[in-house]
Amino acid sequence: MSVNWALPFEERLLPADKSKLLDPKIYLELHKQTVENFKEFWAERAKELPWFKPWDRVLDDSNPPFYKWFVGAETNASWLCLDRHVASWRKNKVAIIWEGEPLDKNGKPLEIKKYTYADLYKEVNRVAYLLKTKYNLKKGDTVTIYLPMIPELPIFMLACARLGVVFNVVFAGFSSASLSDRINDSKSALLITADGFWRNGKILHLKDIADEALKTSPTIRNVIVVRRLGNKINIVEGRDAYLDDLLREVPENVYVEPTRLKSEDPLYILYTSGTTGKPKGQVHDIGGYMVLLDTTMKWAFDVRDEDVYWCTADIGWVTGHSYIVFGPLMEGVTEIIYEGSLTYPDAARWAAIIERYGVTILYTSPTAIRGWMKNPKEFYTRYNLASVRVMHSVGEPINPEAFRWFYEVVGKNRNHFGSTWWMTETGGLLTAHWAGLYTTPMKPGTNGMPLFGVDLEVVDDKGDPQRPEERGYLVIRKPWPGLSLTIWGDPQRFIQVYFSRFKNHYFWTGDYAVRDRDGYFWILGRADEVIKVAGHRLGTYELESTLIQHPAVAEAAVVGIPDEIKGEVPVAFVILRQGYTGDDKLATELNNLVRAKVGPIATLKTVIFVSKLPKTRSAKIMRRVVQAVATNRPIGDVTTLEDEASVDEVKKAYLEFLAEVEKIKSDPNNKQS
Ligand code: WT7
Repeated sequence: MSVNWALPFEERLLPADKSKLLDPKIYLELHKQTVENFKEFWAERAKELPWFKPWDRVLDDSNPPFYKWFVGAETNASWLCLDRHVASWRKNKVAIIWEGEPLDKNGKPLEIKKYTYADLYKEVNRVAYLLKTKYNLKKGDTVTIYLPMIPELPIFMLACARLGVVFNVVFAGFSSASLSDRINDSKSALLITADGFWRNGKILHLKDIADEALKTSPTIRNVIVVRRLGNKINIVEGRDAYLDDLLREVPENVYVEPTRLKSEDPLYILYTSGTTGKPKGQVHDIGGYMVLLDTTMKWAFDVRDEDVYWCTADIGWVTGHSYIVFGPLMEGVTEIIYEGSLTYPDAARWAAIIERYGVTILYTSPTAIRGWMKNPKEFYTRYNLASVRVMHSVGEPINPEAFRWFYEVVGKNRNHFGSTWWMTETGGLLTAHWAGLYTTPMKPGTNGMPLFGVDLEVVDDKGDPQRPEERGYLVIRKPWPGLSLTIWGDPQRFIQVYFSRFKNHYFWTGDYAVRDRDGYFWILGRADEVIKVAGHRLGTYELESTLIQHPAVAEAAVVGIPDEIKGEVPVAFVILRQGYTGDDKLATELNNLVRAKVGPIATLKTVIFVSKLPKTRSAKIMRRVVQAVATNRPIGDVTTLEDEASVDEVKKAYLEFLAEVEKIKSDPNNKQS
């Protein structure tokens, strides 16, 4: 992506509330002080929350990179999100407004459900009681939750958190193979799923996919099914039970005491793709994670009691864990949870939702915005979007056009708007234009300023700070609360993936970044073999290993190419085994395989059948060469050279591969699409 770092001052947008405006230089000075005294800084933040028992030590860093925050402290995330609100005036405040996707003839939602904090507390206690008494679950056990965007998803998460049961949420768009892998790696004995859900006007049969996964997931003994649609599904006697049937046996107002857990105990496992191997189970703690969420809810979103908050992500991803479930509920907000597609039945559904509930805080993604931009601005003027006050974007770099469009159409050229950078591993957002703190001028396309206490840096190959306006690698030099504890069952891999590339236990994010003259961060995209498709993280390795499972495929290389809406999409270069012909039919077959094994988000844009791939002397695929050819970029742009290959070797490989691909594309007999 080519960007202009040094925007003229006129292009820096000022927030409506100028009283909070801060010169970036002063922000950075304050930031420096909080980083130097980061333990004291985080201890102050932690004092904002109640604890069952306070900590003896702010940070145990005796065994890096396995950091423990607020050692000796006791807490419980379910207690933080519910009990204290129920004991306050917020008891009857609406916590969740849920809207199902289907609409009636007049375009009104067929289903809207509201839960006050008291309602939510009641349901969470009842489900926790069920898990504890009927399924004998206790602290440290693991369960897998495969649910769509329905209220039962946060209810189960909070019920598990109440007991110290470690939950693993699997995105409802994932395939049976992905679900099965995650169940097996987390060794869950219980699966929670639903009979189905609505998406884009269609019913998705979730229980069928779960049943398919269970054929290869021997650890599961029981399945709880939430009745979302009431359609007929397969129920295995003795193994499966409907939640509503089970709850009939549970006393109405049962109370389950929140377990006093250690701050550093695990709250959940969430799988995310990396460069090699299967998805890695990131493990998040309780104390540090909740402190980071409390801080960022206040500083990035400026939450207030009168707000109506809406994060459009899916709870199945980390954004939803942190900024639909734990963050907002901890702050006692009223929030929207929407089941379906933001563009069903037309591109204005999201605008209708904003108007219907008077949304004031909106957290969304560049892909969503780019999708909405396909329509003329007038399309949205029939909706009143005036309630929105603070907006943020997340998941991938936001192009300045999308930034400006959103800033104008929803932001009325005055709202606070920025792009928050973070990762599943970081627990919460670490850069922003801080709406609730001091606001530095907004810069379209940037990720704003690093959070106080977080030592974010752009470094060169050796790990030394890069000069301003020079591209480098994004690292975090000191631990922060919210950092993943480990990779589930594989601590060695945690060290190797994140803490061995740069010196001094720097956390390696995998991203390219630039810090501009004013200290703003520009996160430019992944520097590794991870691609972001509509903000979702895919390891190209996962797709390649799926492709080579097909009998026709000898070798495969997958890279991401730019896409107008989704940011990036995968393309595959495939070498076939002898006796197979690369035609449309085979390309479709390979695509179906990827969709079935990984999920529809992994859909390949194209499959190109080639006779060779550029390789190093030790037969490693030169990915950046493949990438350059796939994206029509000269190899000169490829700054990081492959291991063990000289510049000349890379150039030669590039030219050869380019010639090969061009020959295929210009071949009149080529039947490939
Ligand atoms: C990767 C992490 C945590 C939110 C959802 C994604 C990219 C995330 C931004 C942003 C540019 C971004 C990075 C990062 N990314 N937010 N605002 N600007 N890039 O979490 O699936 O773990 O992916 O998403 O490449 O490393 P994730």
